[in-house]
Amino acid sequence: MTKLVDVKDDGGIRFVRMNRPDKKNALTGEMYDAMAAALTGTKSNPDIRCVVIAGVPGAFCAGNDLDEFRQAATDGEGLGEPVLRFLHALAYCERPLVAAVNGFAVGVGTTMLLHCDYVVASANARFSTPFVGLGLVPEAASTLLAPRLMGPRRAFAMLVMGEPLDAATAQSIGLVNAVAESADVEAQAFAAAQKTATLPPEAVLASRRMIRGEPEELAERIDLEADFFRERLQSPEAQAAFAAFFARKK
Ligand code: COA
Repeated sequence: MTKLVDVKDDGGIRFVRMNRPDKKNALTGEMYDAMAAALTGTKSNPDIRCVVIAGVPGAFCAGNDLDEFRQAATDGEGLGEPVLRFLHALAYCERPLVAAVNGFAVGVGTTMLLHCDYVVASANARFSTPFVGLGLVPEAASTLLAPRLMGPRRAFAMLVMGEPLDAATAQSIGLVNAVAESADVEAQAFAAAQKTATLPPEAVLASRRMIRGEPEELAERIDLEADFFRERLQSPEAQAAFAAFFARKK
């Protein structure tokens, strides 16, 4: 059976591929856990110098599986332990993270990029965070990282108004380093990872740590957002939004 998250190590680089093309890489609890383990596992493996996160052609990630959100709401749960494990793994990961975004990145598909150190996107990539439109609040410490990166007004337009960004705009605000043809995105991301992997590793880790700041600050914000998220998930606004998504006509 094909794995929903494929993890391969190659020459100091861990390649993590979200691989659920039939659902546009909507992430399930099982997938979050696999991704969290792939990131956390780098801590005890000094041979891994850099991690590349990729999706499938056309779909980097469609965000959290909305069916699982709907179920969590029914069960009185919040974001859920696997999601939180993944978000904390992002915050505490010491290895540089490179993302290869080919196609759209929705919800956590975009907010996870705020934790990445280098992002290559396809020219047709589209980034969106429709949390508020779904009756929810942003997660993954995006309420801290997005305003830092792009300023509070652009962060409001993206995180609250849900305005999508194309690749050129994402590059202009610093969310993306390089824009490439779809067919070249992974190769360019891999080249960036290889370049990073050949540098003196301790100097890379120390420099990255100072650039990114304290992981505890990110973890605290992740947990704060999760408290709001739990409350919002139970709201009639969110329930109606999930029902509308699954009832939509194609
Ligand atoms: N959760 C669960 N299933 C999802 C999903 C999600 N987040 N995103 C897509 N899917 C499923 C669809 O239900 C559909 O399943 P089906 O074939 O069994 O009906 C399949 O993936 C393909 O989706 P579709 O909408 O037909 O693809 P598209 O290319 O027209 O549009 C998206 C792709 C990502 C733009 C669109 O699916 C979408 O908006 N998804 C929801 C994104 C979202 O709100 N995520 C949560 C953010 S917090």
